Amino acid sequence: MKNTLIAPSVLAADFANLQRDIEMINNSEADWFHIDIMDGVFVPNISFGMPVLEAINKHAKKTIDVHLMIVDPDRYITTFKKLGADVLTVHYEACTHLHRTLQAIKAEGMKAGVALNPHTNVDLLEDIIQDIDLVCIMSVNPGFGGQSFIENTYSKVEKLKALINKKNASTLIEIDGGVTNKNAKQLADAGADVLVAGSYVFGAQDPIATIADLKQITK
Ligand code: DX5
Ligand code: ZN
Repeated sequence: MKNTLIAPSVLAADFANLQRDIEMINNSEADWFHIDIMDGVFVPNISFGMPVLEAINKHAKKTIDVHLMIVDPDRYITTFKKLGADVLTVHYEACTHLHRTLQAIKAEGMKAGVALNPHTNVDLLEDIIQDIDLVCIMSVNPGFGGQSFIENTYSKVEKLKALINKKNASTLIEIDGGVTNKNAKQLADAGADVLVAGSYVFGAQDPIATIADLKQITK
């Protein structure tokens, strides 16, 4: 039986009731907190920044998975460590010296992740996959919650899983964007280890039951 990790995306939380929503995740079967940082340059949207993450970290009792949708992420690696990030993911498309960036993240004691935009081929990771703790396959164009899932994602997951196996790497595969109970099982079966879900969880009548359902169907 698989243990697919579920990572609710705080981007879809109610920011006027953030502590309540953090406690909801603490009390649920969710495994990670997914935190989306957007700079308005790499993506056409600005989410939230350091003070908000600091506040989340005070209450969050689970792994904090930070997804940086920013240009030149090297500038903030130490800062995000201090703010409580356990996993720090940068975009392939934002890093000229990806190998160096990943080493800098690991030197701070965090797990190093690489996110791929929908157009970016997983084969580009062939020479670096052994240095990556997590690959985040974007199943929507990054920048906004609540978008529709891109169906081509399944074949990307399978291709990436084959690459990880070929290289004998222990990299986790995370899927981010448009995840619901309609695609979660197929993603887990294709090789996904972590599913991010924002609007599907926070828009539900009963988010705790929705998270439990995602856990159940991806076993
Ligand atoms: C999109 C973000 C996602 C987003 C997912 O740029 O990286 O993490 O919050 O939201 P949903 O699950 O609503 O697509
Ligand atoms: Zn994200």
